[in-house]
Amino acid sequence: MNRATVMPAAPAQGDLARGAALASAAVPAPQRGALEALDISKQFGGLSALANVSLSLRPGEVHGLIGPNGSGKTTLLNLLSGYYQPSAGSIRIDDAELGAATVQRRARIGVARTFQKPRLLPGLSVLDNAMLGAWPHARSGFLATAFGLPSVAREEKALRVRATELLHGIGLGHVIGRRANLLDHAQQRFLEIARGLAMRPRFMLLDEPAGGLTGHEIEHLGDVIRTLRDAGIGVLLVEHHTDFVFRISDRVTTLNVGKMIRHGTPDEVRADPEVIRVYLGA
Ligand SMILES: Nc1ncnc2c1ncn2[C@@H]1O[C@H](COP(=O)(O)OP(=O)(O)OP(=O)(O)O)[C@@H](O)[C@H]1O
Ligand SMILES: [Mg+2]
Repeated sequence: MNRATVMPAAPAQGDLARGAALASAAVPAPQRGALEALDISKQFGGLSALANVSLSLRPGEVHGLIGPNGSGKTTLLNLLSGYYQPSAGSIRIDDAELGAATVQRRARIGVARTFQKPRLLPGLSVLDNAMLGAWPHARSGFLATAFGLPSVAREEKALRVRATELLHGIGLGHVIGRRANLLDHAQQRFLEIARGLAMRPRFMLLDEPAGGLTGHEIEHLGDVIRTLRDAGIGVLLVEHHTDFVFRISDRVTTLNVGKMIRHGTPDEVRADPEVIRVYLGA
């Protein structure tokens, strides 16, 4: 990985160590297939939230997903992550149909996500919240855990070490023991990303991660996203901060009232008259 791509112009020593820790902790399994939505439709009662939308998220790319409020961005993310089932069409990974695979199974396969409004366990510490992300890979069964066998303690220790590394890497090392409800908004957003990374995901789906962040915090988010991409993770970036999306994405898909209106490079999408008309403005 090229460290220069994830660091500011004159990185402080602490920043370098953090970037390296995040990169090494984020390396996914070496599969190379895509996570794909093929000709997806989703209806809620009589409402068509998505109609015939396709999107292919490749490993090691940032794919921006933009569009006006209510255009179906979160719905598509919920379908890819298994929170919803499509009304028609298919969701595939490595060309294999995911069908009714649950959220838990998708997590084990390597699909992680964050939420438009952060969903943390407020009474638990930052470290415990991050460790929760690692559970899909925990090997200890119910009985081993119930009887407190040594293997469980060893596994928990390994998960704790990994979650601690991730938290340091993402810039939350100084608040590791703090209760999650005492974090500020940006810290909660970064903790959600750390929790997702604890799963060792191949794909990370981010729902408006820059929402409510300051310019400086968005820069940090950009560093984090580029680190994930360089580590081979496919990142879906749902976002209204279009400057940020066009700057950081390899490809961009635009939705409007549940339909795909343009897909292409940032330059192609930014210049598209229909995208300008329905979303970007003159
Ligand atoms: N669980 C649901 N039940 C009923 N309707 C829903 C549900 N989820 C989404 N919708 C509807 O589907 C449409 C698309 O919503 P969605 O949340 O995907 O939009 P979005 O592009 O994420 O918008 P925003 O930018 O405001 O987050 C909207 O009309 C919304 O009201
Ligand atoms: Mg949304």
